Amino acid sequence: MPDEYVLLLSNEHRFVAKRGTINTHVGSVDVSDASYGDVIRAGDVTFLVARPTFTDLLQTCRRAAQVVTLKDAVQIAAVTGVGRGWRCVDGGSGSGFLALFIGHMVAPNGTVVTYERREDFHATVQRNIQRCGLEDVVVAKHGDIASFEERDLDLVTLDVRGAENLVARVHRRLAPGGWLAVYSPQIEQQIAVRETMEREGYGRIVTMETLRRTWQSRGGYTRPVTKGLLHTGFLTFGRRVTAIQE
Ligand SMILES: C[S@@+](CC[C@H](N)C(=O)[O-])C[C@H]1O[C@@H](n2cnc3c(N)ncnc32)[C@H](O)[C@@H]1O
Repeated sequence: MPDEYVLLLSNEHRFVAKRGTINTHVGSVDVSDASYGDVIRAGDVTFLVARPTFTDLLQTCRRAAQVVTLKDAVQIAAVTGVGRGWRCVDGGSGSGFLALFIGHMVAPNGTVVTYERREDFHATVQRNIQRCGLEDVVVAKHGDIASFEERDLDLVTLDVRGAENLVARVHRRLAPGGWLAVYSPQIEQQIAVRETMEREGYGRIVTMETLRRTWQSRGGYTRPVTKGLLHTGFLTFGRRVTAIQE
């Protein structure tokens, strides 16, 4: 059974195409029977057919709300060490980008349960889970993250206003050594989260911001690009370092 999507690659263009005929702005092309390594023409452009990576698929997913960017998602992976088999909870789902990234890290035998209270966004997340082929790993629930019941969690990620109000509940549901990672666009939100984490007994608390700068090289002149994504958000991490009695 061939993969559902193929990647059409040229130096200037990249399309993730579902099997069948697709219309691109350079022309239409039939990829029903395309195999990896085939060369296909659409209009004036020649494409190499390849297998889409998780990142190729994610970048074509529908965006319902402001998403956590890959530069921040990889920081969560780097700090926590999230990997195969982890049990995770995420909220709010938004477009599901962070939940999908974590799902990709914990597959094939881990789980991510992601909560979204808006029905339209929840539907978008379900579509995006299918697009990335993570149906067996990422579970989208329609509801308030404040009522999550999962326990013994290795990682909880929060990207909601008022995250400080969830910090205590998360702490009681973390596995020993488990992580909370909170994404806060504004510094006032970060301060509220961090102060609550300190009060609730989290250990090894750290806050960071990740800056990424792309460089351009044209005609023998090389320098950082003048425009780009500057601030996205602050990440605050903490771990359960104590025994907890409910
Ligand atoms: C900034 S978006 C999250 C984006 C997501 N991290 C991503 O990478 O795609 C925040 C989302 O949280 C949802 N939300 C806010 N408060 C919530 C709550 N208490 N429970 C569940 N979802 C909530 C909002 O509807 C919104 O879709």
